[in-house]
Amino acid sequence: MQAEKQHTHKKHGFTGQIGFVMAAAGSAVGVGNLWRFPYLAAKDGGGLFILVYLILTFTFGFTLLTSDIAIGRKTGKNSIKAYGAMHPRWKFLGIVTFLVPALIMTYYAVIGGWILRYIAVYLAGQGQAAAADSFFTDFITSPGQSSLCAVLFMVLTAWIVFNGVEKGIEKYSKVLMPVMLVMITAIAVFALTLRHIGDDGVTRTGLQGLMVYLTPSFEGLTLKRFLQILLDAMSQIFFSLSVSMGIMITYGSYIKKDVDLNSSIHQIEFFDTGVALLAGIMIIPSIFVFEGVEGMKAGPGLMFVSLPKVFASMHVMGRLVGLAFFIMAAFAALTSCVSVLETITANCMEIFHTRRKPTTIVLTLIYTAASVIVALGYSFFYVEIPLPNGSVGQILDLMDYISNSFMMPFISMLSAILIGWVIGPSWITEEIEQGGRTFGMKYLYAVMIRYIVPVIMFILFLQSTGILNF
Ligand code: PFF
Repeated sequence: MQAEKQHTHKKHGFTGQIGFVMAAAGSAVGVGNLWRFPYLAAKDGGGLFILVYLILTFTFGFTLLTSDIAIGRKTGKNSIKAYGAMHPRWKFLGIVTFLVPALIMTYYAVIGGWILRYIAVYLAGQGQAAAADSFFTDFITSPGQSSLCAVLFMVLTAWIVFNGVEKGIEKYSKVLMPVMLVMITAIAVFALTLRHIGDDGVTRTGLQGLMVYLTPSFEGLTLKRFLQILLDAMSQIFFSLSVSMGIMITYGSYIKKDVDLNSSIHQIEFFDTGVALLAGIMIIPSIFVFEGVEGMKAGPGLMFVSLPKVFASMHVMGRLVGLAFFIMAAFAALTSCVSVLETITANCMEIFHTRRKPTTIVLTLIYTAASVIVALGYSFFYVEIPLPNGSVGQILDLMDYISNSFMMPFISMLSAILIGWVIGPSWITEEIEQGGRTFGMKYLYAVMIRYIVPVIMFILFLQSTGILNF
């Protein structure tokens, strides 16, 4: 009986809408919101990027999220079998989709491990040391420390997945997500109250920083630059909403039929976008106050290099705020990492007809080994791999590039063709309207999935392969 219960998806799943929304928002809100969104906003003209991002979230993001969740609930299956159930000849797309979390999982726990390291730093009161330029590089290039942190994060993730959908994922998301929201709001409000006199004698305030963040900058805007902003925003939306990688299909398969999908999808979008905006309100003014406009050009180093400097400048308060920030980031990363491992686990359980606990244990062993290899990619296994976008990366960047920049637009393009042209958008819209619910954006969905998504995804795909170069 117990074994049978664990075998089928129908017998377990989220208890209701709140459980689902919290778990899905948990997957969506992660380091992408906290680290990537603010740095893209700083790079791409502040308010201009935010505006483009908002428009794209409620059109593209909405279309992709709706598709994934409806496919999951309608088929009750995970990506590999779900695409096969939609159309037997499209099973290959399910397999390709499955490969995305399978790749992401090799490095997500490594990033989670970095966050754990910074929690330890602030707990031990070593905030000043963390502000040194070389601290982050010294840490990731030390084989022992970085592997240990990755393994620790992997174990935390595995523990939640091991406990199942209701007793693991839903239970933890329902606690971690609201706590995370309160913490990020508090830090954002605090950031707005900051005031500091720089070495140049100029006083800068948090509110001025907020204006820098929100004011659209059209300086040097050309068509080419605008297209680049558009593409940056688009790939950020994929990553941020965890779409086109089978995760939302798996989570969708756990939703009861009486849950209102339309309102759930809007709630997930608001949660994810809200946290991204708050992360910007927290990070950009803090950096502006202590380091000026120049500090915001730090790019990817923003979270692990620039922020510790800001916390160090806050003196006593910095230890507290730094600790709160990294604990909050750990919660966000953990719920995302859980969704990745869950998707791989659920697919394997479905294919091999295995039970959750042994499946989780085997996958945890495999991915612990993979995480260690990726973590050692900055020391023992250091390589310099040229990527099609012109940058040079290590193993982690390569995995990230293949999964996010390369595979995700490809999967979205093919999924849109499958839904829009092979089985028809009504296959999805019927699922949203199930039980007499209204789907207000039904026509927008149909137009997006048939015409707009395939074209834009094709462009994005060409750009990520380096064929098209802006
Ligand atoms: N959506 C998460 C974020 O914005 O950080 C990132 C993410 C989670 C990406 C899970 C991929 C994934 F499979």
